[in-house]
Amino acid sequence: MRFFSFFSSLGLMAVVVIGNQLHTEKITLREQASFPVGVAVSPKRIAQSEYAKVVGQEFSSLTAENVMKPQYIWTSERNYDFSKGDSLVAFAQARQQQVHGHTLVWHLMQPDWLKNTIESYDSATLENLLRDYIQTVVKHYRGKVVSWDVVNEAVASNGDGMRESVYLQKLGDDYVARCHQYARQSDPDVLLFYNDYSIASNPKKLNTILEMVDDFQARGIPLDGIGMQMHVGLDLSLDDYQKALDEISQRGLKIHLSEVDIKVNSNGKQTTLTPELAESQRELMSEIVRRYNQLPEENKFAITFWGLRDNESWLTNHTGFPQWPLLYDHDFQRKSMYQGFLDGLETAQTTVDK
Ligand code: G3I
Repeated sequence: MRFFSFFSSLGLMAVVVIGNQLHTEKITLREQASFPVGVAVSPKRIAQSEYAKVVGQEFSSLTAENVMKPQYIWTSERNYDFSKGDSLVAFAQARQQQVHGHTLVWHLMQPDWLKNTIESYDSATLENLLRDYIQTVVKHYRGKVVSWDVVNEAVASNGDGMRESVYLQKLGDDYVARCHQYARQSDPDVLLFYNDYSIASNPKKLNTILEMVDDFQARGIPLDGIGMQMHVGLDLSLDDYQKALDEISQRGLKIHLSEVDIKVNSNGKQTTLTPELAESQRELMSEIVRRYNQLPEENKFAITFWGLRDNESWLTNHTGFPQWPLLYDHDFQRKSMYQGFLDGLETAQTTVDK
């Protein structure tokens, strides 16, 4: 049996030659990769039929871009609304996709009632509220969600110690560890991740996170993995990226590339994704995937993209410019970056142009 792939008007196709019969089928990431490949979605987008078809075919893992954050679930001190997250879980279950929970505790995206009252709480009251929130949510999604970002972005942006958030101020340095313990008490099986950005590009931040990991492991604080968000640009240092992969995997932890996008318009001067930029993006995607794929199996959790189509990316608003950072374009067509992912798996080789 011989196997080729090529770009056709239908996108990347596989040609399987069995005997003298040609069989063509659409290649998908979920069947090409030996690890889950995910995408961040919203209930509104997966309600669109074309979008749902592509997401269901392509990906084996889903993350809620927003609707499983406290702002959407935590409606008042001890009241919760799981409806949006439940609709996403149902979508995933119908397509044999795993769900990664994002996120239980974050200094952003807090519900308005909490923003307005948090300063008035004493430490014990806030601790009890946060513990009850964590344990209620983890219990609700037990058996439906394989993993959680327990605390998101608790380390200072520049890597110099912990972020000065209201949680740090009111609950003290060890609140992250206690949040992990609360989550573990509610589900003995769910994988618990610490998630942050710039881990692959800021050695100081990587070291601060590794110090936290070493402390957790010394004290038996439950921690199964690290989410490296990977909101990167074409200037990503592959040496820094490789060092992060090495240091985290050597500690026996799973690595989730949890929010991958590759921006290509850092100076805002690009008005289109030129062939040169597309090629640079493809090359970097290939290197990111190749190095990740070389990790020991036990350290690979998933690679998750922070959106499906370029036009839907948070980066457009965040940077003020189009960044063309994802695998698919506005017309649901796979980009060269998609081929870069396959190249990184060192499997499908294109034989024919688009
Ligand atoms: O749903 C409301 C809508 O009703 C309202 O009309 C609209 C205009 O104000 O806002 C909508 O909510 C927005 C929400 O996304 C849903 O689109 C919020 O304003 C907006 O702040 C929110 O942005 C999200 C951001 O997290 C929140 O900080 C982005 O979509 C999401 O991609 C981004 O994701 C984060 C990860 O969770 C953590 N890592 C960084 C990453 C990028 O910031």
